Amino acid sequence: MAKIRTVFNCHECGYKTYKWAGYCPVCKGDTLVEEQVVPADKSPRLAGEGGELTLLEQIPSLEQERLLTGIKELDRVLGGGTVPGSVVLVGGDPGIGKSTLLLQAALGFVSSGLQVIYVTGEESLAQLKMRAARLGLNGQSLLVLADTEYSRIESKITEGRPQVVVIDSIQTVMKKELGGVPGSVIQLREVTASLVQLAKSKQITFFIIGHVTKEGVLAGPRILEHMVDCVLNFEGDRYQSFRILRAAKNRFGSTSELGIFTMEAEGLTEVQNPSALFLSERPAFSPGSAVVPVMEGSRPLLVEVQGLVSPSYSGGIPRRTATGLDINRASLLIAVLEKRVGLPLTSCDIFINVVGGVKIMEPAVDLAVALALASSYRDKPLKTRTMFVGEVGLTGEVRPVGRLAERLQEGLKMGYTCCILPRGNLRSQFFREQQAKNNLELVPVSSLAEALDLAME
Ligand code: TYD
Ligand code: MG
Repeated sequence: MAKIRTVFNCHECGYKTYKWAGYCPVCKGDTLVEEQVVPADKSPRLAGEGGELTLLEQIPSLEQERLLTGIKELDRVLGGGTVPGSVVLVGGDPGIGKSTLLLQAALGFVSSGLQVIYVTGEESLAQLKMRAARLGLNGQSLLVLADTEYSRIESKITEGRPQVVVIDSIQTVMKKELGGVPGSVIQLREVTASLVQLAKSKQITFFIIGHVTKEGVLAGPRILEHMVDCVLNFEGDRYQSFRILRAAKNRFGSTSELGIFTMEAEGLTEVQNPSALFLSERPAFSPGSAVVPVMEGSRPLLVEVQGLVSPSYSGGIPRRTATGLDINRASLLIAVLEKRVGLPLTSCDIFINVVGGVKIMEPAVDLAVALALASSYRDKPLKTRTMFVGEVGLTGEVRPVGRLAERLQEGLKMGYTCCILPRGNLRSQFFREQQAKNNLELVPVSSLAEALDLAME
């Protein structure tokens, strides 16, 4: 009889070793779990194995009709609906609303006439029914299945001939023959590989739910990311109602789109006007707050940036934190404020926060961050109904930003009457048109120091 070999897998990063190591050398954590090695002939094949040489022009085009959930925010993040035969992994913390989102999506597919199977390994059918009732949606013809054994699930899928399948969740499905516990690295990898194969061979779209957990025996779905076509992360603060869906990987669309929802008693609701949501709690006339029109994917969004500058009493290195913003970018702006504007911030604790849980990567936010900090330092509010946009360079210059027209339009829609912006954007067509209309005051600046003079009341 063949000897059973074991392997030690890291359930965080997927690192593999045949020798017991005590801790994972990559994550430096106590994250190694012992598992049996799968015999080579039993391991599932990937889509790319055993192929023939083919001329590219002879391959039939994948450009086919996309399937729509009818949930606009989700369809947009998917790149305009989902492609038949693709596999989408939806990750997120437990309780964030993944099951709710995908049940809503499943019911959306059903109402457009598609055959959908929702496989639940986490909840009973009765619980699923209760959830559907709570969502108040008509799910008469949604097929549901409560099972956790892979081969049974596969045969039910083959039998049901669906166009879309939801697996809730990947951590609960297991292949009996592999042994171990559901959610172990080997189970996750093998089950996902088989699902990917099923998706490609039968042209079924799969939505696979995966929990992101740091502790416990459940493996993070990170190791699955390279196997699937699209990875969506569902984020948000469990204690607040809004949820943000973003694509971390998308073979069929952009990864810069955001989907914004709020969790209500009757399920997830799309946010039509995210700027209003992000600005709703904004205190009027308070120092340290600045509004900036940013571009999130194809869409402009007004967000509030808050800065707090206070003398540091710790005696050591002052604290610097940034939420929703790259800390290195924040440090650069603080240095520019010191050196080019002359604000003595060396011995101050500095906190920066982008309100609403969005993470902003684009440098167009620089001016707003710098002005929010200066406003907090001087304890004077910035001008009311004014937006600030511009990239700040190392010499304190304010550089032009792209897609200004869309940004300003969003501000106008939200009732803003003034915008301090880079002088380099003066040439823009929209700029001249707006000046002629006279409903939005545009104040061009060349440097951060100049902006600071004009930005306070
Ligand atoms: P759920 O979709 O079960 O999260 P996940 O699958 O990511 O673990 O939803 C979790 C929370 O959402 C739960 O605490 C209850 C809340 N919820 C609502 O507020 N409204 C609703 O209509 C539903 C279905 C859930
Ligand atoms: Mg769930």
